[in-house]
Amino acid sequence: MTPDLQLSMTTPRTIWWADGKVHMIDQRQLPQTVEIVDFDDVQGIALAINEMVVRGAPAIGAAAAFGMAVAAQGSPVADTATLLADLRQAKTVLDAARPTAVNLSWATSRFLQMAERLAGDGAMVNEIAKALLAEAEAFVAQDIEINQRMGRHGAEVIPQGANILHHCNTGSLATAGYGTALGVVRAAHVAGKHIHVWVDETRPRLQGARLTAWELMLEDIPMHLVVDSASGLLMRQGKVDVVLFGADRVAANGDVANKIGSYNLAILAQEHGIPCYAVVPTSTIEPTLADGDQIPIEERSWLEVATLAGVPVAPNDVLVYNPAFDITPHRYLTGIITEEGICYPPFEQSLKHAKLRAEGRDS
Ligand code: MRU
Repeated sequence: MTPDLQLSMTTPRTIWWADGKVHMIDQRQLPQTVEIVDFDDVQGIALAINEMVVRGAPAIGAAAAFGMAVAAQGSPVADTATLLADLRQAKTVLDAARPTAVNLSWATSRFLQMAERLAGDGAMVNEIAKALLAEAEAFVAQDIEINQRMGRHGAEVIPQGANILHHCNTGSLATAGYGTALGVVRAAHVAGKHIHVWVDETRPRLQGARLTAWELMLEDIPMHLVVDSASGLLMRQGKVDVVLFGADRVAANGDVANKIGSYNLAILAQEHGIPCYAVVPTSTIEPTLADGDQIPIEERSWLEVATLAGVPVAPNDVLVYNPAFDITPHRYLTGIITEEGICYPPFEQSLKHAKLRAEGRDS
C-alpha cells in the first residue's frame, strides 16, 4: 500500500480529506483492487453510502460528516440563512442514503446543530464552512480514538488463546480506523493473547471474505475463512470461545441491529454456553427507541442474492427477499462493549450511563 492509503503500517484508511475533496477507498473493489475515489458534492457522497463504496455504521457516520462539510464548502451563498437551508437539504439527502445505521443521522444532526449554533453566534458563511470541515476531520480522529478505547475494554474479556467467531466487517474499513469488534480482535492480538479468528464470509455481500480476511491478513492475525452456516458445527465442536460482532443501531433495552445472520449466531452461542458481545460506540445507541422492533431494517437489491460477482446463481426471475440486517434481542447478549466500558444487563441502566458518560453528563 502507498503511504497515503495507510493509517498505520498495516491498517488501511477508509475516508479522508485532501485537495479539497473527500477521498474513500472503494470497498466494492476490495480485495482485488485498491481504488481510491473522491467526491466534492453531497449527492455523490450519498450515492457512495447507498452503493456501499463506504459502509459500516461508523464509516457511514464519517462519510455523512464530510457530506455536511462539503455542502457548506460548495455553498455559493453569502447569507447564513440560505447556508442553513442548504445544510438542512444536505441532511435530508444524506439521511435517506441508508436506513439502519443511526450513526448517519447522528452525524448529520450534530453538524447541522453546530452550524446553527455558529450562525446564532454571528459567524459568517465562510467561517461556518471552515469550522464544519475542521469538525469533520476531528470527527475522524475521534472515531479512531473511541475505537481504540473500545478495543482495550473488549480485550479484557477475551481469554488467552481464544477462538473468536466474527461476523461481517467491523474493522478499519467499517469505521474511520481500527474498528469496533475487529478493534477488540486487534487489541487482544497486540496484547499477546494468541487469538485465532473464524471469519464468517457474510453472505450476500461477503464483507467477511473480502474485507475482514484482507484486514486480518495484512496484520498477520491468525484466521480461517468459513461459510456462515459453519458456525453451529464449530460451536458444537468446542472451537469457538467467544462471538463478536458490531451493530448499526442499539435500542434502549439493548436489542441490536446488525448484519443479517448476527441473530442466528447469538442464539447458537447461548445454546452452547458461549459468550456473545456486540461492540459499539455510544453514538450507535439510540435511547429514544424502546426496543429493536422499532429499528428500520434495510432491504437491498435481489441482485445481491441471485448473482455472485455479477454471475447469475439462481433461476432467472427468481423472487428474492434480501433484508440486510437483523435484530438480536438483548437476552442473547452477554454484554455490549463501548468506549465507556462494557455494559451488562440490565442494559437499560448500563447503556444509559455509558451514553451519559460519553456526553460528560455522568460520573
Ligand atoms: O451493510 P454493511 O456492510 O454496512 O454492514 C456493516 C455491519 O453490519 C457492521 O457489523 C456494523 O456496521 C457495525 S461495525 C462497524
